[in-house]
Amino acid sequence: MTEASKVYPPSDEFVAGANATAEMYARADANPDEFWAEQARRLDWATPFTQTLDWSGAPFAKWFVGGELNVSVNCVDRHVAAGKGDRVAIHWVGEPIDDTRDITYSQLKDEVSRAANYLSSIGLQAGDRVAIYMPMVPEAIISMLACARLGLTHSVVFAGFSAAALRSRVDDAEAKVVITTDGQFRRGEPAPLKAAVDEALGTGDDAAPSIEKVIVVRRTNHDPDLNWVEGRDVWWEDTVDEQSPVHEAEAFDAEHPLFLLYTSGTTGKPKGIVHSSGGYLTQASYTFHNVFDHKEGRDVFWCGADIGWVTGHSYLVYGPLSNGATEVIYEGTPNSPNEHRHFQIIEKYGVTTYYIAPTLIRTFMKWGREIPDAHDLSSLRLLGSVGEPINPEAWRWYNDVIGGGRCPIVDTWWQTETGGIMISPLPGVTATKPGSAMRPLPGISATIVDDNANPVGDGEQGYLVLDRPWPGMLRGIWGDPERFKETYWSRFEDQGWYFAGDGARYDEDGALWVLGRVDDVMNVSGHRISTSEVESALVAHPAVAEAAVIGAADETTGQGIVAFVILMGGIENTGDALIAEMRQQVAVDISPIAKPREINIVPELPKTRSGKIMRRLLKDVAEGRELGDTSTLVDPSVFEAIRAKRA
Ligand code: WT7
Repeated sequence: MTEASKVYPPSDEFVAGANATAEMYARADANPDEFWAEQARRLDWATPFTQTLDWSGAPFAKWFVGGELNVSVNCVDRHVAAGKGDRVAIHWVGEPIDDTRDITYSQLKDEVSRAANYLSSIGLQAGDRVAIYMPMVPEAIISMLACARLGLTHSVVFAGFSAAALRSRVDDAEAKVVITTDGQFRRGEPAPLKAAVDEALGTGDDAAPSIEKVIVVRRTNHDPDLNWVEGRDVWWEDTVDEQSPVHEAEAFDAEHPLFLLYTSGTTGKPKGIVHSSGGYLTQASYTFHNVFDHKEGRDVFWCGADIGWVTGHSYLVYGPLSNGATEVIYEGTPNSPNEHRHFQIIEKYGVTTYYIAPTLIRTFMKWGREIPDAHDLSSLRLLGSVGEPINPEAWRWYNDVIGGGRCPIVDTWWQTETGGIMISPLPGVTATKPGSAMRPLPGISATIVDDNANPVGDGEQGYLVLDRPWPGMLRGIWGDPERFKETYWSRFEDQGWYFAGDGARYDEDGALWVLGRVDDVMNVSGHRISTSEVESALVAHPAVAEAAVIGAADETTGQGIVAFVILMGGIENTGDALIAEMRQQVAVDISPIAKPREINIVPELPKTRSGKIMRRLLKDVAEGRELGDTSTLVDPSVFEAIRAKRA
């Protein structure tokens, strides 16, 4: 057998002790409703549901009809009630060395109750929206759970997003409150954060109309002249901390919207993905238990994502905490103060289960194996990958160097829209192939089809579709039901299938390989960024007349953003200085993470006769390939000029 086709079967030890079993697949297929009802019963319901799925209003699903529950009680109180209050829920690790905090389930219950008491004291009511714009501090998770406890719909906005991005999300959701921090630590230095909130919310005529309060957690304490808006701004320590730690939680309908999370689509405007309470929590809880083979009281789980992304929602908050897990939450970057940080944390806390993105694995590879080799990583027993396809080379390095050859790897495919993991190996059950997400989880059904909805043959590339509803599925796009139908359900409307936007293929053994996006969405370090959003930011720069953006293959980040821009007439090309301004424009409009790796100022863009920019050809240029078919271009010689510019 060649190295490339080597299969990794689970060890006997894993097979004997795993939570998941092979018979789950057939059982789930035979009766999906019964299977999901059984998974939902992992949770505590104040009122039991009477029907598992109502799909009569498709594509608007209702799961666990008639059921009522409180998500926060399921993640916190019930563990305390079961005598597990002294168990550590969160080993919090701040960026500054030795700035740590262990939070038990009892303490978490008190903190969440205090925050809930304050939020209700200022008049917030179930259904209101709260924006959370925070670094990875415990109060971020406490805030999410406090919202859940009151039926407030949270909208977490990644703290790396710009003021402009925050404002558009606050306005779209009509959030009444923003919870933030004074600042955040970035590579050892305090950096402002509240300043971005002030800029986003504006003043006077420009003030965000929905906002009533801004709650500020003191984190960096770095700015003696912190801007303060009287009547609007309050310190967490003066308000939340003063509250009673007792809060009687009310139960909400299974379909009550738990959170919104904005994600990039193929058009400029981010979509507010809506998630439910009962269905979402069922999927987060079920997948955490089975995919990560979670053993209560023994495992220490660590997901390296930020709460600003869906991975942080499902596998830092709702999945682990609903299972009573002990987890690590780390505030900083992997190289602060140096490249040893992650491995020191694994060693110190005895992390058993480690879940990160391939881009970080490739970064570790670049840093060299002597760094992880300097640490005792023997506590690890399971590794996970998420966010982008993992190349087999990175998979094998992860397996050998980090996992010591003994840890199963779960390559988990899912999306903001799916709420939880959908396609993944099951540890103890699946023999894995490096680079393949293998097969849909029990209860989940996916297929790969061509343009006419016909299944493709083994080895052929097609579109990945989900042909059966699932509990964690998005319930819509906030305020835009038409866009919801159009984006996900119109491509295979007759079949009633969900179109994921990814290309995929099956191999000869029926293993599924996800190939990446087939739409104008890029994946940079596992972050989803739309080409048109970056293009709009670039043309917002006064010197730019037109811009075309593509994701080009990148060894470390998966894809890198490459832009081609045409200048306005009469603008002088000052080269690097002008390019730096354009990159800054993108940072200001979206986020530093969306800054193009490369900006090419070109005389023209390749267009078809109907005026469409041929991005496919730009990608060929950026990736240094021979050009594909140029016959539909108005002027194929455009490329000579573009090539000359890049040389
Ligand atoms: C897109 C979703 C899943 C949470 C983080 C990203 C890509 C995700 C994998 C994987 C290949 C993957 C897909 C998907 N993706 N996981 N294991 N293998 N591709 O969530 O920002 O909503 O992005 O990420 O292209 O559509 P997201």
